[in-house]
Amino acid sequence: MQDQDYQRQLESLCQDGLHRKMLTVGSAAGRMVQVNGEKKVIFCSNNYLGLAGHPNIIKAVKEGVQEWGFGSGGSRLVCGNTLPCEHLQGRLAEMLGFEACLVLPSGYTANHAILTSLAGEGDLIVMDKLVHASIIDGARASGAELRTWPHGTTDKLKRLLEQGGYRQVFIVTDSLFSMDGDKAPLTELVALKNRYGAILIVDEAHAFGCIGPEGKGCAAEAGVLDKVDIFMATFSKALGGAGGFIASSRTIIDYLVNKARSFIFTTGIPAINCLAADAALDIIQQEPHRRERLHGNSDYLRCRFLEKKLDFGQSLGYIIPIILGPAEKAIQISKVLWYQGFMAPAIRPPTVKSGSSRLRISVMSEHTKADMDGLCEALEQAIQEKL
Ligand SMILES: Cc1ncc(COP(=O)(O)O)c(C=O)c1O
Repeated sequence: MQDQDYQRQLESLCQDGLHRKMLTVGSAAGRMVQVNGEKKVIFCSNNYLGLAGHPNIIKAVKEGVQEWGFGSGGSRLVCGNTLPCEHLQGRLAEMLGFEACLVLPSGYTANHAILTSLAGEGDLIVMDKLVHASIIDGARASGAELRTWPHGTTDKLKRLLEQGGYRQVFIVTDSLFSMDGDKAPLTELVALKNRYGAILIVDEAHAFGCIGPEGKGCAAEAGVLDKVDIFMATFSKALGGAGGFIASSRTIIDYLVNKARSFIFTTGIPAINCLAADAALDIIQQEPHRRERLHGNSDYLRCRFLEKKLDFGQSLGYIIPIILGPAEKAIQISKVLWYQGFMAPAIRPPTVKSGSSRLRISVMSEHTKADMDGLCEALEQAIQEKL
């Protein structure tokens, strides 16, 4: 294809309201951020607990960079496996009750590592229709057969498991869904995986740090953490940093170290990312009030949305989708909010399915009542204007 062919495709994205452009952030992550030169209260961040700018984490990074420098200097299997990374892996494994843990440069590479190394030809990967793109990409690249079950149901999953005929079946789900804010039926999935001898992989990216005892996630909250075969999460959401990890048996982790191409062929995560995640875990364990504030804020905002009769699907938590339908409508409403001082970008296909474009409102523990009341009024007004 030539440049002009790509140009035509870009124009077609523009016509469908699906063209994307990056905004430029000009200040540290927090509840109020300078974006494209203007200060906005942000309702779109995954920095749920406000840790991205926490003084203890900044201190850990400053001290860490003095001692460790910045880059790790090599892949983990060559010379990029640092003491802070080893320490963090041990801490995460112990905290979550798994035999071992593997830290990777991102959550995306963690999911890719799990699926491409463990599953292959003759296997079935079956997953909730709304799992994160990194799971879909890993599953597609694995060579295994790939099926989905409709979100919020398990009938099709049961049928597929009953049918059998595969070398190994992998059941994969997000625990807290990133665009809908509802939770997977983990207790039911555990019962099914036990009955049919499947392997259960749970992506706790959006729950880790915020949900369950000590922020251990939805499986811990549901009392089934010890039944999960492979636990995955990231440092890029509640922990306010960057990096991902996988917790599982010693054998699975050793297998990934030896087989996962997205682990082997990439430079090891910088030591300071691990020191930052370690400091974030300290705060999460020592300051439960941050989680309480986050959940209190989410309850408050959902109540306000209910009063205004705004549709937020099945959301129970701090990810609150305001489902608007056409992409163009979501863009218009997001623009009105922007002029009122709020940042909540439109989420459109391919991130969500066609006709379900939305504002993905994400709450932070740092939001004030005035922030949330202001957003609510602005949203009601914007929707009335654009109806
Ligand atoms: C459910 C889920 N899994 C995995 C990822 C990937 O994590 P990371 O941003 O650390 O690559 C994300 C975030 O984008 C996510 O929402």
